[in-house]
Amino acid sequence: MEQINTIITENAPAAIGPYSQAKEHNGIIYVSGQIPINPTTGNIDAFDIEGQTRQVIENIKAILNEAGSSLDSVLKTTCLLADMNDFAVFNEVYGEAFISKPARACFAVKELPKKVLVEVEVVAVKHQRIYDFDEVLDRTQLSTSKWESEIFRTGNKNLLCFGTADMDFKSSPAIIDALQSVVDKGHFGYPYKRDSYYDAIIGYLDRHFSWKISKEMIANSVSIYPSFQGIIEGLTEEGDEIIFNSPVHHIFKEVVTANKRVAVESPLKLVDGEYQLDFNHIKASITPKTSMYILCNPHNPMGRIWNQDDLIQLVDLCAENNIIILSDEVYAGLIYPGESFTPLASLSEKAAMNSITCISASKSFNVTGIKHSLVISENPEFISVYKEQLKKNNEYYGESIFGHHATEAAFSNSDEWSNELMEYINGNFNFLKEYLKTNLPDVGIFQPQSTYFAWLDFNYLGLSDNDLVNLFEKEAEIIVTHGYVLGEGGSGFIRWNLGCPRSVLKMGLERLKTAIENKK
Ligand SMILES: Cc1ncc(COP(=O)(O)O)c(C=O)c1O
Repeated sequence: MEQINTIITENAPAAIGPYSQAKEHNGIIYVSGQIPINPTTGNIDAFDIEGQTRQVIENIKAILNEAGSSLDSVLKTTCLLADMNDFAVFNEVYGEAFISKPARACFAVKELPKKVLVEVEVVAVKHQRIYDFDEVLDRTQLSTSKWESEIFRTGNKNLLCFGTADMDFKSSPAIIDALQSVVDKGHFGYPYKRDSYYDAIIGYLDRHFSWKISKEMIANSVSIYPSFQGIIEGLTEEGDEIIFNSPVHHIFKEVVTANKRVAVESPLKLVDGEYQLDFNHIKASITPKTSMYILCNPHNPMGRIWNQDDLIQLVDLCAENNIIILSDEVYAGLIYPGESFTPLASLSEKAAMNSITCISASKSFNVTGIKHSLVISENPEFISVYKEQLKKNNEYYGESIFGHHATEAAFSNSDEWSNELMEYINGNFNFLKEYLKTNLPDVGIFQPQSTYFAWLDFNYLGLSDNDLVNLFEKEAEIIVTHGYVLGEGGSGFIRWNLGCPRSVLKMGLERLKTAIENKK
């Protein structure tokens, strides 16, 4: 008889029904569980059926993830309901997650054991993983900025580093091979961008985001922020005001002010645990001197993808006020399973003509050190002004041969790596969420849709920013990015980089738990 493996998913929640384990047989995962009847009232009335159902879906997601599958790989779910009439809500909520995907769910009314309202059975395909994100690399192989500089700064060799936005994984094999072939040739002269380079970029943006662009719309830089400089200098005047939403990567403010423009922070607002653009604040921040809006989408640090309605509203507002949008989409290749991303410029003619986009392979494919990025605009004037700026320091020609090759390989031949990466990051987030819920339940957690960051609220500790830094750095011996550095709204929050093997993440969380417990 063939073996059926029971996968104990220790980090998946068991809040409702026996959702704490999955079974695997021949690469197929089975998860089942029940929503019990309300034991006090004996019926469903006093029961938060919608909340319970959402929790069931969350539980199933977490279990599938730990068992090496995902909601996207569900073949079938069977929901047995004690009484169909009572379950309009269940049906609707569950349907949101499953029925919209073809042939994924069937409902049946059946006499269930007493005390059971709903029984759910999920069948999913186990993913065949090719890439090993669990591999713990020697520290000397990791980003020196993320690790070595912190160890040097603190003098503490025991540190675990979850700060700088680099991942502790090897890059995709396609990128490594492409760079290896450059090295093998042994000639590192001025590079020329072949059609295959442009085809890779154009193909990627179309394949992933249905954004159709042409070669003429693409310019380059050695990374995103140097391109900010050319864009800001070329398209705005000294003393102009530039709006962006905080908390955000602190370099936004630095680049704007270093270029003698006025940085105007418009804080994001937190509504029911979700960060949103605050249009009232943005409108109130606009003056006759406002000439640019820098959008961070997906947003660093909380990993929000701005929805299309917000983007349309922003495009209209900026167009009405002659404000050019610089859309920083550097994290666009790091989209969580089940989420989708829309580049601002792909929304409409108005959006395309009033924006300039910065994007690169750097964050998404873990090649920040190869120094190559893209500047894209469908507005010929914007691209031409930007290219003129490049002449100021001969950047027009000064590109890296490694940057070209890595970018081409990332955009043409790394989709599979990228999909597995995001499943792994999603798994890391679920792991962190469950760990915190169980061990440090007062920490505020925000569900990301993109990036490899978790944005966490530690305000309940009532510590000053300095004391929070000490707690992490000195007592827990872990490095994270502290929110107060990222502008208004960041105090008491931290950004935890989940781009690491789960075992390292677990060690970090355990250290944090011990440090907080020792404080009591
Ligand atoms: C929002 C954002 N934009 C741009 C960058 C810079 O990216 P790169 O150095 O890869 O060009 C970063 C780096 O952390 C970032 O967070």
